[in-house]
Amino acid sequence: MSAAPAKAGRDPVRLGILLSGRGSNFLAIAESIRAGRLKGVEIAVVVSNVAEADGLAKAQELGLTSEVLVSKGRKRQEHDADAIACLRAHRVDLVCLAGYMRLLSPEFLAAFPNRILNIHPSLLPAFPGLEAQEQAFEYGVKVTGCTVHFADEHLDHGVIVVQRAIPVLESDDAHSLAERILAEEHIAYSEAIARVASGEYEIRGRRFVKRIL
Ligand code: GRF
Repeated sequence: MSAAPAKAGRDPVRLGILLSGRGSNFLAIAESIRAGRLKGVEIAVVVSNVAEADGLAKAQELGLTSEVLVSKGRKRQEHDADAIACLRAHRVDLVCLAGYMRLLSPEFLAAFPNRILNIHPSLLPAFPGLEAQEQAFEYGVKVTGCTVHFADEHLDHGVIVVQRAIPVLESDDAHSLAERILAEEHIAYSEAIARVASGEYEIRGRRFVKRIL
């Protein structure tokens, strides 16, 4: 399968950031854009499904457009229908899940085919699911890292766009390891967005490869 460009021409690719918590990945993306390291994209909207999320407060401090769509107590499809409508209203081209602690419905995935990125704190397919850093530490791996991938219908499973690896040090504990992985996440997400936003790629099977122009 080959993927169409995210967007050609001069208009910036519009990002919709979805988060539920502290938002450090969102802030790293925002800083990459501000500093001019991540070009050709803009944050169209930050959407939180948790009203108290720190990431939401930070988006407001930065003067970015933000929306709260509380998901607690709502049916997945109903909440996702609102999220899709919100992202469309803000003309979002590429959805970036950044600590969004909610599974997406098939309708959400279908609304943005190969246009939803997720970040996970392990080298997938190892250690999907929650507390991946602790899982990797307890397993005793010598190398771990993070993965930015397209979301698909399975948890932490879609086509891999970027991975960054780090060694597990003898001196690490689960906390220090998680902190060092997070530092890599903050680099990896902007790198993955740049690659996807360029549109210069193809998806062959599960492989994300640069398109030869
Ligand atoms: C990150 O570790 C990310 O990989 C995982 O959730 C965490 C979100 O952290 N999906 P933050 O909210 O971006 O600081």
